[in-house]
Amino acid sequence: MTKEEKLHQLAIISDEVRKCQRCVLFKAATSGVPGEGDVDAKVMFIGEGPGFNEDKQGRPFVGQAGKLLTETIESLGWKRPDVFITNVVRHRPPENRDPLPEEITACDVWTDKIIELVEPKVIVTLGRFSMAKFISGATISKVHGQARLSNYKGRQYVVMPMFHPAAALRAGEMMSQFKADFKKLPEVVNMSIDDLVPPLVKKEEPKNDVGPNQMNLI
Ligand code: URA
Repeated sequence: MTKEEKLHQLAIISDEVRKCQRCVLFKAATSGVPGEGDVDAKVMFIGEGPGFNEDKQGRPFVGQAGKLLTETIESLGWKRPDVFITNVVRHRPPENRDPLPEEITACDVWTDKIIELVEPKVIVTLGRFSMAKFISGATISKVHGQARLSNYKGRQYVVMPMFHPAAALRAGEMMSQFKADFKKLPEVVNMSIDDLVPPLVKKEEPKNDVGPNQMNLI
């Protein structure tokens, strides 16, 4: 698809998102927030959902958390319009509550269309809701900053889980980890598949700790 065709498709998707009534979130929201950025971006950031400012402006990450995200992107020598930024839900949850599983699932159709359109090399998940879509069974405090391969809807992506910028703004310790994880991004964009941590595999716990070799010693 040419860039022009991609831009045309993004405009169609964005119009549909603004009219979307697939979950209840549209009822209390002012505007839908489809996402924005370069349709050919190598890096896509996926956050949680629009807050007060995003709902008013119809654009993702334009409040305090957005200011931090934009500044941190620029600290790499990148420009915000060169990446793509979206969320797992696209209408503001009332009072900024957590999005519900059924709301995230209802919005998957748009998440998938946007990912398929942009085809980023790296998906940066911001916060646990976004991370859970791509890395199952993980805890953000354990896996943040570790790029890994993830199968999503039949395709493999490089997924880089990070803390949400709003969490970084709340706690100083997370801020330094957020910034340190961010610094790894240029390297992650250039990584080959072999450098990556494979998808998490749940291992079965051993029934007891006596292995076959040890049994010979009894
Ligand atoms: N927080 C998010 O997760 N997304 C936004 O767009 C803004 C704040």
